[in-house]
Amino acid sequence: MKINRRNLPLDQFIEFALYNKVTGYYMKKNPFGKEGDFITAPNITRLFSEIIAIWVVTFWKSIGSPKKFNLLEFGAGNGEMMKVVIETLKNFPECFLNCNFQIHEKSELLKKQQQLNLKSEKITWVEDIKINNSYPTIFLANEFFDALPIKQFFKKKEGWVERFVHLKEKKKAEFKNQPTDIKNIEQNLNFVISKDQEIIEYSPDSFEYLKNVCNLIIKNDGGILIIDYGYLNFKMHETLQAIRNHKHSNILEDIGDSDITYNINFNLFKKFIYQFNDLNSIISNQKKFLTSMGIVQRAEIISKNIPFSKKSDLFYRIRRLIDEKQMGELFKVMLIKKKKNKFKTGFEID
Ligand SMILES: C[S@@+](CC[C@H](N)C(=O)[O-])C[C@H]1O[C@@H](n2cnc3c(N)ncnc32)[C@H](O)[C@@H]1O
Repeated sequence: MKINRRNLPLDQFIEFALYNKVTGYYMKKNPFGKEGDFITAPNITRLFSEIIAIWVVTFWKSIGSPKKFNLLEFGAGNGEMMKVVIETLKNFPECFLNCNFQIHEKSELLKKQQQLNLKSEKITWVEDIKINNSYPTIFLANEFFDALPIKQFFKKKEGWVERFVHLKEKKKAEFKNQPTDIKNIEQNLNFVISKDQEIIEYSPDSFEYLKNVCNLIIKNDGGILIIDYGYLNFKMHETLQAIRNHKHSNILEDIGDSDITYNINFNLFKKFIYQFNDLNSIISNQKKFLTSMGIVQRAEIISKNIPFSKKSDLFYRIRRLIDEKQMGELFKVMLIKKKKNKFKTGFEID
C-alpha cells in the first residue's frame, strides 16, 4: 500500500502500521525474545504453556470429555505455546487423541515460523473461524486481543471527538481529532459505551472476534481463555503504546518498526458478554491463575534434579510471570463459557 498524505481513523492507522503486507510490523519480522522487541509468557518459560495444557484437560472434562474437539489458538506468534501444549497433552492420551489442533494467524511470516516450529505435529491453520466443523472448541488467546487495532474517542466541551492519524511522510505522522456522533457508534455496537466515560478505547475487531466465538460456544459448546495486559475498572483511560527494543517508543515515528499495543478493559469485554444470555465470564489475574494451577509446585519438582544456576534461573522466570509488580497483576485471565458449566479451575483463589 502506498502512503498518501491523508487521514486515517486510529484503528486503520494501526492496521496499516502492524499488518500492511509489505511494511507492517508483524508481516516483516519476528518480534519475540531477547533479540526482538518484546517477550511473551510462553517464551519466558515452557512451564507457562504446560500449565495452560493442564488447564485445557480439566476444561475439556468439564464439557463432558467430547470425543472430538478443537483446540484453536488465536495469534500463535512463533508457535512456542502450541508446541509445548501439544507435547504436554500427549501425557493425557484420552484428551490428546480426540483433539484437532488449530491456529488462526494473520501474519504469513509468523505462520511460516509456526509451521517450522510445529513441523512434527498435525495442525490446521484456520482462515475463518466461522467456517469450521461443528465440534466443541476450546479457544486460547495469549496476548492476541492486545494486538488488535483500536479506536479512541475523547469527550470535549463541544462533544465527542474521534482520534485520527494524519500521515505526513513515509515514517512520520500526527494525531488529529474529528467530531463524531457517538450515538451512531453505539447503535452499530449495539450497546452504550460512552456513559460516565471521558475516554473510550476499544477494538472493533475484538468485538467481532468475541461475537463469533460466543456464537460458536453457544452452538457447539467450549470456551475461550483470554490472557492479556489489562485492567478491570469501569472507567476507561488511555493506554495506547508503542514498543521497540523492549522500550516505549513514539507511535507516530518509525511506523512499521514498533509494536503498537494497548491495555484491554476487561470490564468492557464482560459487558459485551452480557448480550449472550447463555454465557458468562469469570476473571482472575495471571498470578492467581498460574499459582492456583500449581506452577510453583511444578517448578519445585523440576528443580530437584537441576544445578543451582538453572534452578535460580527457573525461579527468576516464574517470578516474572507471577510477581504482582511484573506480569502477575498486569495480566488478567478471563474465561468465557456456558453459564450452565460451573467450571472454575484456575479462578478459585481470592
Ligand atoms: C503479541 S503477539 C502474541 C503471540 C503469542 N500468542 C505469544 O503469546 O507469544 C500477537 C499475535 O497475534 C497475531 N494476530 C494479530 N492480529 C491477528 C488477526 N486479526 N488474526 C490472526 N492473528 C492475528 C500476530 O500476528 C501475532 O502472532
